[in-house]
Amino acid sequence: SRPHPSSLSLSLILSLSLVPWSLSLRTALLGRRPILCVFHPRPRPQQPRFCRNLHPRSCPDVAEETLTSDLSGLCVSAATRESAFVHAIASAGVAFAVTRSCAEGTSTICGCDSHHKGPPGDGWKWGGCSEDADFGVLVSREFADARENRPDARSAMNRHNNEAGRTTILDHMHLKCKCHGLSGSCEVKTCWWAQPDFRAIGDYLKDKYDSASEMVVEKHRESRGWVETLRAKYALFKPPTERDLVYYENSPNFCEPNPETGSFGTRDRTCNVTSHGIDGCDLLCCGRGHNTRTERRKEKCHCIFHWCCYVSCQECTRVYDVHTCK
Ligand SMILES: *[C@@H]1O[C@H](CO)[C@@H](O)[C@H](O)[C@H]1NC(C)=O
Repeated sequence: SRPHPSSLSLSLILSLSLVPWSLSLRTALLGRRPILCVFHPRPRPQQPRFCRNLHPRSCPDVAEETLTSDLSGLCVSAATRESAFVHAIASAGVAFAVTRSCAEGTSTICGCDSHHKGPPGDGWKWGGCSEDADFGVLVSREFADARENRPDARSAMNRHNNEAGRTTILDHMHLKCKCHGLSGSCEVKTCWWAQPDFRAIGDYLKDKYDSASEMVVEKHRESRGWVETLRAKYALFKPPTERDLVYYENSPNFCEPNPETGSFGTRDRTCNVTSHGIDGCDLLCCGRGHNTRTERRKEKCHCIFHWCCYVSCQECTRVYDVHTCK
């Protein structure tokens, strides 16, 4: 029997609003198996739309029997930029979750990074628990890339995007420091390496999704047989680096719901009436038009700072126009 998701010590929910579709991903480690769930953005966000084993080509493993086995979704058969994003954020999510859980002492096989990387700086010394992202990345590489060893283009694409996702974690490590001393003075400062907010990883990979590189498939004859590799489609553009996402198939149209492509459609999506971009009502609603309703929201206002030290606020009601696609 499988553990209930709420009993998992190691899980994280990432909420990303992606256009033209929005999704939440949940990566969790069930024993040694990472699971990826895609949630329907509405009307019941708590309910995963489908879950699957992280290995995209071998997706019979569904986390919970109660979920629909609608597996042909985003993460997915086609080699699109959405697929590239899902691979990158899923492999980053596994690396992140493993690293965090090691630092929290959840596992006996890993812990803090005792090497701390480099001498202490001026006025501070190493202390606390540095998160060992190298270990998390290693575990993620083993999980996510284990079955990506075919000589075909799709395997090459998945390996590349998985690695791009993991690299994001390493690139965003930062020093966190804490002051010690009498009554809030900073006589002694200790610092440690910490992972970024996962939100920052999501935002960064979302930018990479927007600027993903289109590739073409090339076939080579090697001693082990035919091998497919990827080459940038447009010689005029800067070739992708190891941090860029790559894809070689065009995205389907996400305007209408389509279980085959994993599209939820854009009906009821909130759109921006003044934007000419992909979040604007014209493009996002695919020409179907939009509805407008007013929403009253309570907000803090007229805040006053009192010496010393607290802030008092009043509550104001503001009226907003909310636009949603027809
Ligand atoms: C809507 O789009 C405009 C123009 O792009 C932008 O300035 C504004 O911040 C957007 N509003 C929201 C709520 O995203």
